Amino acid sequence: MKVRILPDYDALSETAAAIVAERLREKPSAVLLLPTGTTPLGMYRRLVGLHRSGDLSFARATFFNLDEYFGLPPEHPASYHVYMRENFYALIDADPARVHVPRGDAPDPKAACRRYEAAIRGAGGIDLCVLGIGRNGHIGFNEPGAPFGSRTRVVRLAESTRRVNAADFEADRAPEQAITVGLATICEAREVLLLASGANKAGAVAAAVEGEVAESVPASVLRRHPKGTFLLDEDAGSDLGSGVAD
Ligand code: PGA
Repeated sequence: MKVRILPDYDALSETAAAIVAERLREKPSAVLLLPTGTTPLGMYRRLVGLHRSGDLSFARATFFNLDEYFGLPPEHPASYHVYMRENFYALIDADPARVHVPRGDAPDPKAACRRYEAAIRGAGGIDLCVLGIGRNGHIGFNEPGAPFGSRTRVVRLAESTRRVNAADFEADRAPEQAITVGLATICEAREVLLLASGANKAGAVAAAVEGEVAESVPASVLRRHPKGTFLLDEDAGSDLGSGVAD
């Protein structure tokens, strides 16, 4: 696992977009597993810019998303379906037949989770997974305690996560559950890029990079990944000691 520290959020977003663009140029049919949240917005904006200037096509790529709130239909304004459409998929030349976001309102969630895993396998596995990190060390919605062997499933959200995300929902009540791709599925990606920006991520980043590899810190599982990179801005890296892992 590598750690790269960029000066600020703009540099972080630029570097993340450049890595995604490079992988797509090497392999236009690449399979991507993508995050939502505040952190990746700068990366998405730059990727859309590259597409608009004619420098990058996504037409042959396949997209999977990491997670969705349980119970939300795809048109709910706080759903990750809407987030992804508005910030990325509707702004590029993605083939809708190859865009996959877990359905929060699937009538048989267990079967839908199994189909999602099967679709990832059917696409040939994930080439590049881009992730954010929660203040509690979660990746996707794999909260502390999530098994390293986990697959796509319905999970209960940590209260701290619900508080952080509450403002997106009426009466400040975030859903209690979500569907998330599991840690084993994330770790099977051929490359993983975790993005973290801001001092409120510094503790989680230090625990993941320098603490024990343990299920209490889901992002620490990436230490075992042969091609995993923590891409940080200086604030997110500010709790790291001098012994940064490489
Ligand atoms: P954020 O979310 O980018 O909005 O901070 C990251 C996460 O919770 O995974």
